[in-house]
Amino acid sequence: MMHSIVQFAYLVASALFILALYWMNDPKTARRGVVSGAVAMGIAVLSTWALPQVVHHLWLIIAAVAGVAVGIPLSRVSLTAVPQRTALSHAFGGLAAGLVGTAKYYLWVGEGPEQLTTLRMIAIVAEIILGFLTFTGSLLAAGKLQGISWIPQRPVTFKGQNFMNLGLLGIAVALGVLLVVQPTGPWSAYAFPVIIVLALLFGVLLIIPIGGADMPTVISILNAYAGLSAVAMGFVLDNKLLIVAGALDGSSGFILSLIMCRAMNRSFTNVLFGGFGQIAAPVAGAEVRQYKSETIESATQVLEQASLVVIIPGYGMAVAQAQHRVRELYDQLVRRGITVKFAIHPVAGRMPGHMNVLLAEANIPYTDLVEMDDINRDMPQCDVALVIGANDVVNPAARNQKDSPIYGMPIIEADKARTVYAIKRSKNPGFAGIDNDLYFQDRTYMLFGDAKAVVGELVKSLAGDSGH
Ligand code: TAP
Repeated sequence: MMHSIVQFAYLVASALFILALYWMNDPKTARRGVVSGAVAMGIAVLSTWALPQVVHHLWLIIAAVAGVAVGIPLSRVSLTAVPQRTALSHAFGGLAAGLVGTAKYYLWVGEGPEQLTTLRMIAIVAEIILGFLTFTGSLLAAGKLQGISWIPQRPVTFKGQNFMNLGLLGIAVALGVLLVVQPTGPWSAYAFPVIIVLALLFGVLLIIPIGGADMPTVISILNAYAGLSAVAMGFVLDNKLLIVAGALDGSSGFILSLIMCRAMNRSFTNVLFGGFGQIAAPVAGAEVRQYKSETIESATQVLEQASLVVIIPGYGMAVAQAQHRVRELYDQLVRRGITVKFAIHPVAGRMPGHMNVLLAEANIPYTDLVEMDDINRDMPQCDVALVIGANDVVNPAARNQKDSPIYGMPIIEADKARTVYAIKRSKNPGFAGIDNDLYFQDRTYMLFGDAKAVVGELVKSLAGDSGH
């Protein structure tokens, strides 16, 4: 009876997990998606706890308390730290899968060879390889993104790296195959820990050649690995909900990686085999070109005359936490009958959806957030493009400089607008470390300063003009 109830609860949880992903597709329903995912996880944990084979309740209570103790501070990190926070979650997921696989293997060895069926052994081998490589790979990725001083941030590459990495993985897989064929051979007890060590090592080696702008993509690939290790764990534990949830997790990780690769014009195989992600050094000795600075007052006048203003937010808006000031600016402009649209580049900021989340937090209507391809059609008719802390995603070099490291990356075509105002603090380049021609073109004017402060001044100036 209890078994049937639990199976029904698993079905409900699976449906909720699928709905959670579906609802997260759209900002309007994203919050519902998060709640649905949390409820599904709650059902999953409680119904599994209710299974009669669970006997060590104290251990579960200790694990739950430990999880909550770690989870609460993790949920409070700032939005810009979400990529590394996510990597930590994958690390824990990978470690859990690896440890469950290890425990099950030794338990079944103790119970006798008939327990070690081929299917179980395939699942265990997949689980420990994927789980342990996800563990070390994600930990290292989180450390790199957090900027921990003793972890090299730049890609570390050496000759024969891919050959060595694939060789190590090949040995781990070969030992795994041997273990599947002969799970209780005299050497099996030794092969098992060797596979674990190789997987742990492979996780590190997979991440060290990757750096900079490619880290978030790698994190979503690790998400996929964590999902696949959960699928394998589902087979080991004979738990259908784990198989479903792991498959959803794994496939959404792969899809997200593909979307990010496309948005940055990177090849997926390159990410998988590493050895790229070198950040271009700023070009030294290049001709010194002049920026044109502009005052808030004259920017205000031009903005007031516009009929279409396109705001292009980027990483700088997130750093400055300027979204609420941006909302005030939006209100001031809309009040004057000016059409205001937000151009959303798929990799603006440091994680997918970064801009959407910030703008939603400031209650800017979703309908005014326009995807890159759609807004680019309007850019020639745009009177003012207001770039707020964005750089690489508006760099025309991606379109017309074949030797540029970002050549081929789709961009928001701010350079086609009649007038461009760009808010940033300094003459420093963006993430890719390269100059941006947009800032030097005739129709571009710089408003130097912190995004929150500058947008605040624009708002004040507009409010002053209208007597508000
Ligand atoms: P960036 O190219 O990184 O440029 C951000 C600009 O914001 C910088 O030029 C910086 O100039 C300015 N800034 C920083 N703090 C500021 C502040 N407090 N006030 C005003 N301006 C500030 O950002 P982007 O255009 O959003 O492009 C994103 C980059 O990240 C791309 O290269 C993309 O490939 C990469 N990336 C993104 C993702 C995802 S999923 N979003 C994933 C991987 C890689 P100053 O220092 O002069 O102020």
